[in-house]
Amino acid sequence: MSKLLQVALATASMISLTQSDAHAQARPTLAPAPLPSPAQARARADAIVARMTQDEKLALVHGLFPPMAQGKSSNELIPSAGHIDGIPRLGIPLVRESDASLGVANQVEQRKGDVATALPSGLATAASFDPDIARAGGTMIGAEARAKRFNVLLAGGVNLTRDPWNGRNFEYLGEDPLLAGTLAGAHIAGVQSNRIVSTVKHFALNAQETGRMIVDARIGEAALRMSDLLAFQIAIERGRPGSVMCAYNKVNGDWSCENGHLLNDVLKRDWGYGGWVMSDWGAVHSTVKAANAGLDQQSGQELDKSLYFSAPLAAAVGRGAVSQGRLDDMVARYLTGLIETGAYDTPTAASTVTPDYAADAAVAQRAAEAGIVLLKNDGALLPIARTARRIVVIGGNADVGVLSGGGSSQVRSVGGAPVEIPLAYGGSASFARITYHASSPLLALRRALPGVDVTWVDGRNLNATIAAAKAADLAIVFATQWTTEADDVANLRLPDHQDALIAAVAAAQPRVVAVMETGGPVLMPWIAQVPVVVQAWYPGQRGGEAIANILTGKVNPSGRLPITFPADAAQPVRPRPVGLDRMDAQEVAAAADPGAAAGRAPEGFPVDYVEGADVGYRWYARKAMTPLFPFGHGLSYTQFAYRNPVVTGGRTLSVSFDVVNTGARAGADVPQMYVARGAGVAPMRLAAFTRVTLKPGETRRITLTAEPRIVADYDVKLPGWRIDAGRYRVALARNATDRTMVSSATLDATTMKP
Ligand code: BGC
Repeated sequence: MSKLLQVALATASMISLTQSDAHAQARPTLAPAPLPSPAQARARADAIVARMTQDEKLALVHGLFPPMAQGKSSNELIPSAGHIDGIPRLGIPLVRESDASLGVANQVEQRKGDVATALPSGLATAASFDPDIARAGGTMIGAEARAKRFNVLLAGGVNLTRDPWNGRNFEYLGEDPLLAGTLAGAHIAGVQSNRIVSTVKHFALNAQETGRMIVDARIGEAALRMSDLLAFQIAIERGRPGSVMCAYNKVNGDWSCENGHLLNDVLKRDWGYGGWVMSDWGAVHSTVKAANAGLDQQSGQELDKSLYFSAPLAAAVGRGAVSQGRLDDMVARYLTGLIETGAYDTPTAASTVTPDYAADAAVAQRAAEAGIVLLKNDGALLPIARTARRIVVIGGNADVGVLSGGGSSQVRSVGGAPVEIPLAYGGSASFARITYHASSPLLALRRALPGVDVTWVDGRNLNATIAAAKAADLAIVFATQWTTEADDVANLRLPDHQDALIAAVAAAQPRVVAVMETGGPVLMPWIAQVPVVVQAWYPGQRGGEAIANILTGKVNPSGRLPITFPADAAQPVRPRPVGLDRMDAQEVAAAADPGAAAGRAPEGFPVDYVEGADVGYRWYARKAMTPLFPFGHGLSYTQFAYRNPVVTGGRTLSVSFDVVNTGARAGADVPQMYVARGAGVAPMRLAAFTRVTLKPGETRRITLTAEPRIVADYDVKLPGWRIDAGRYRVALARNATDRTMVSSATLDATTMKP
């Protein structure tokens, strides 16, 4: 039986076991005490460890997977990701862990009827280019986690998007280390403001879902430090997460959760990380090697082949293969993470509290509105004119809701799931269903446009759809692409013949708007015929309202792409998931002969990240390719001009300039600063950005200062970051390909610690 199938079956048997319906009236009161410094937290943790028995220590370094761990705890097991009993004698709190970054998850409705507020996808939040939006989302979902008695939220997914077909891109924050790291840090800080722990995950290079438990991600040290690891480094500095979750995959030959270089050298030594490293669920492969490499806690232990950090760890310490000091450090790190975040001194409540769902929905809606990207608006067809009389809305289940992404991050949102389709096949079949949130764009448009005849066709009958498009003044087609954890998409085309549907509607009605609810970029073979394209991502529980507000102009679009949209399938570094054919063949063989397949471990395979640190837009620059829409791109219903730029060098690169709203509407702009060394061909890198909201005619003077590690290269010999003295190009730009305002400045030589 597959791990995930086991999960689903065990989950099903748990459903009615532990649901607490005791809804109290008030929100929990948070401890007012100030949080300790890292050193104070560690000192207190060490003092607690000194009072612990060996059995008590061993009890804290592995966690239960509640759906499979019935009867193994004296405390109530809430169906969710993880559980670690506390030690009342020492005041050590019980820990309950829930997924994930988009809200308190409830995959396959393992807790019947337990809803939560669903944020838009991570990519949508990244598209806001706004740490305040990310922080507000984290604060909101962290409060809901606490209200539901969780004190660890498995949030903070910050894996860089290296491939547009990665099934999990929607959970992450795009392809740029500065943007992703900055927003992840803000999100984590928001979650932890509730005095609960957030993770940052999946450390590191869990960049594809195909074969995620057997793949070996290969990349050079300098390139890794300058890309995926830099995103983690920035997220950790800004968010100070109590825990880091190591990934399923191998990195350069060693499993992430027993990778001494990643865990001991980079994370704990170079970055001075003081919290604990927890494994991903089913990502542990050893006892001695993992413990000595820096893994502090085995999560969801029932999902691994062995209870590695239970009796085998006791034995390993007994015979000296793992030192007593290392076991003490594992426990102290766990306690430090809890103490530093305030989770230790703010225990979970005895019963659940009903969150203020109306206020929380507003947070989700603001995030969606800030993240929707107006990709194209030829003829200023949007916002919908006040003169519009007949509008037809087509497809995408837009009559009832908006799509969400699948997997462990799946939130069962307030309002339920008007469309929910179980899966028969694929890596995610046992724990994911195609799920829509109950937020109808059609109804929201009708509410926003009183007096306008807004009709609906589901798009399944092509002739009826074409007739309806012809009869209307404006057609709005909703396109959907479902993506999920544990499966990549085989190609970037819209599924289910939606390209043909859009092309047919565009041929019948030139005034057509395509609204894209997709996990990430899709190909748009019809782009020349469609004047308006709105990228709505998975817009979360209030996505319908957010889309209607953007289309009608109540909200001025301000999102910018956190990821490059390719013009064709051949542009991305790897056109399709590496190892997909091999995994498909294994699936067929296993289906044909389940008995033989049961005992056979699938053979691993490598992925060589040949682009190195030139991820996303930097790859396009290196190869001189023009994407369909570049990283950083997004339109507004107003216009912005940049004036009087002044670039300075010396110790650091800065650009000061005036941003002017030259149009007739209030709106938000995202000025971006890209830098590169020398006059040459090196791809420019996003070194700073900001989001500024301006009234019509308003001017604001802004200074952007480059993040030094973006300007630098990583030097493995130093080791550390090195900025060479010399000339640097600086572009003040609207997106990664905009070179209308390029200047240069001279920098002094500098080095920085790793
Ligand atoms: C996912 C993690 C998640 C964990 C617990 C794993 O399959 O990769 O992101 O936090 O499960 O549900």
